[in-house]
Amino acid sequence: MKKHINIALDGPSGSGKSTLAKGLSQKLDILYLDTGAMYRAAALKAARLGIDCLDEQAVGSFIDDIDLKIEYIDGIQHTILDGRDVSSEIRKNEISMKASEISSLRPVRLKMVELQRKIASEMSCIVDGRDIGSYVLPDAEYKFYITADSSVRAERRRRELLQKGEDVPFEKLKSEIERRDYNDSHREFAPLVKAADAVEINTSSMSEEEVLQKVLSFVRW
Ligand code: DC
Repeated sequence: MKKHINIALDGPSGSGKSTLAKGLSQKLDILYLDTGAMYRAAALKAARLGIDCLDEQAVGSFIDDIDLKIEYIDGIQHTILDGRDVSSEIRKNEISMKASEISSLRPVRLKMVELQRKIASEMSCIVDGRDIGSYVLPDAEYKFYITADSSVRAERRRRELLQKGEDVPFEKLKSEIERRDYNDSHREFAPLVKAADAVEINTSSMSEEEVLQKVLSFVRW
């Protein structure tokens, strides 16, 4: 039987974590847990209820009982909210900033972290997020902190959204990414931070394959 491992991937939006996580998941044959999807689902729920994502009291009224499940079909994560698969809907650009806002609220983080720790304890997985190595899974076997310049990240996001039919100007995406970086790294509780024992990789001028090979060079599995 294989041993249990968790690999933590942290870093700002668009740094290449999810592409890397998918590559690692295939190479190592372990599941990929995208924790950003959970905050996105919480933001979608707030939007459906007409609640401002920064209104802690209003968000607090639904977050403890949120009907949110993570399921895997053929190794791919599906995010299920109120019994419906919202995996595509939560990727829309309008949800990105709302997810960053709602993720700054302590009750939201406590709820999501509880779910993340449960999943990570039950299965080996690659977990991507902002606070995985520093807060959610401080004992993860491997920790990487993935960064890239904000222009490179905005360009990557632009291509990703275009592929899904959403045409958002580069400048808008760049300023949104910088705002989210600020929000994510300045919130009071469990901010985006490089864990002291994480390996930092700047992917600005690296290909996806180079990043994957670099990370694989550290992992013994
Ligand atoms: O990775 P992403 O862009 O899908 O994440 C959406 C937002 O969720 C991001 O702006 C910050 C927040 N987030 C977080 O605070 N902690 C995590 N572990 C994952 C995401």
